[in-house]
Amino acid sequence: MAFVTEHYILAVDQGTSASRAIIINKNGRRVTAASQPLPQINRHPGWVEHDPNLLWNSVQSVISSVLINAGIHPDQIDGVGIVTQRETTIIWDRTTGEPIAPAVGWQSKQTDDVTRQLIKDGYGEMIHQKTGLFINSYFSAAKIRWLLDHVEGAQERAEKGELCFGTVDSWLAWKLSGSALHVTDYSNASRTMLFNIHTLDWDDEILKLMNIPRAMLPEVKSSSEVYGHTQNYQFFGAEVPIAALAGDQQAALFGQMGFDKGVIKNTYGAGAFIVMNTGDEPLISNNGLLTTIAYGLNGSVQYALEGSIFVAGSAIGWLQDEMKMIPDEPAAKRAALASTDHDEVYVVPAFSGLGAPYWDDAARGAVYGITRGTTQNDFVKATLQSIAYQTRDVIETMRKDTQLAIPRLKADGASSRNTYLMQFQADILNMEIDRSADEETTALGAAFLAGLAVGFWDNVDALQAIYQQGKTFSPYMPEDHRQRLYQGWQTAVKATELFKL
Ligand code: G3P
Repeated sequence: MAFVTEHYILAVDQGTSASRAIIINKNGRRVTAASQPLPQINRHPGWVEHDPNLLWNSVQSVISSVLINAGIHPDQIDGVGIVTQRETTIIWDRTTGEPIAPAVGWQSKQTDDVTRQLIKDGYGEMIHQKTGLFINSYFSAAKIRWLLDHVEGAQERAEKGELCFGTVDSWLAWKLSGSALHVTDYSNASRTMLFNIHTLDWDDEILKLMNIPRAMLPEVKSSSEVYGHTQNYQFFGAEVPIAALAGDQQAALFGQMGFDKGVIKNTYGAGAFIVMNTGDEPLISNNGLLTTIAYGLNGSVQYALEGSIFVAGSAIGWLQDEMKMIPDEPAAKRAALASTDHDEVYVVPAFSGLGAPYWDDAARGAVYGITRGTTQNDFVKATLQSIAYQTRDVIETMRKDTQLAIPRLKADGASSRNTYLMQFQADILNMEIDRSADEETTALGAAFLAGLAVGFWDNVDALQAIYQQGKTFSPYMPEDHRQRLYQGWQTAVKATELFKL
């Protein structure tokens, strides 16, 4: 009797709060998954850091767990795809592999002085035109500058080529390959504020301005190709092709079949990231959206517009942990449904400033419209609604920038499981919301990109054929009610922008 051995793709999804490993089969279905929380270090108010070694350990541990749990031999893994939180910055010693400092997280505010100076010196327009980004501490460039300034001798070592910079994808490729690879992909490079999205190369003018030596930067590759192989011991004796690298938000677009111009998705995670495929030419936004690279595949790149909302699901965490209004996340939906007010309360969750399209670092959160009769349920509902309102802000801006109609939005991520939020989102946008069947489209994107590189799937048509669509939410709110609610939100945001401590 011949043994039939199934083959799989392994997706690694390294996010801000957890590392995950997921095994995907030929039908694009999740076979098994393992997750491990990733601690954040908060040494000072506003700083968000990670221990890069702990991060790597968590990835090794989830990889081992999925293989063991599913009883899958590493020989059955045809390729590994790595998708990661973006912008987070790690610098390590090229010889020892030791990080020189904690990883500076994407939300971290310790670099505000660096970015303020760049804005003051008038570099905003040049940087926007070349990188598609606005000068902000969110992106890697200021984090690298900060590390080179604050770790003794780092600038000199970087100039001598002794240090490597990487976003989390680079760090994991380096570790998985046993230090053989110092690479990144177009989607991650486009988040550094050092990458010229037109020439597809690190930009010498910006590198000079920031005094960042080219020698420390990784080689930029496509998002789907065999860069190298895992080192033996990590996969119990197998050398598995490392076959995809991508930023998590762009990977989610790919996992949602976002191959064509005009396709748009929102991942409702801790933040919310709305990404629209804009085709093979970069479209520079006039209205506060980021231009970014969606992915590089088969020798060309696809561009995207992105609206990054810093606080979405994390506002629900705040209701639970700090405000003690709900015991867990599912309780938010029950509270919203139990609320009997007329949607007159507005929560503006500008906990770390306002992201797209406002880009107001100094804004702080606010609550409006409360009365003596306001209840916890109303407060919880208003917080959920703030996620939908912020999404509408971004989509209105995308309409302006692209002149496209945008009839529907694809939704994924943990908070997309909240049916109250999805229905309110459809209502406030007056659009159909197509929710993915599997909320982990980020991991699916990683698996699809890796699978294409190793011939596990032949082409994107093969992916379309196995893709599973979930539930669709249709709008039914009357137009005048929708307009009244959204105008209230716009007034609340304006008032929030005026209030500065
Ligand atoms: O740009 C930051 C983003 O990539 C973080 O994603 O899912 O780790 O919160 P997540």
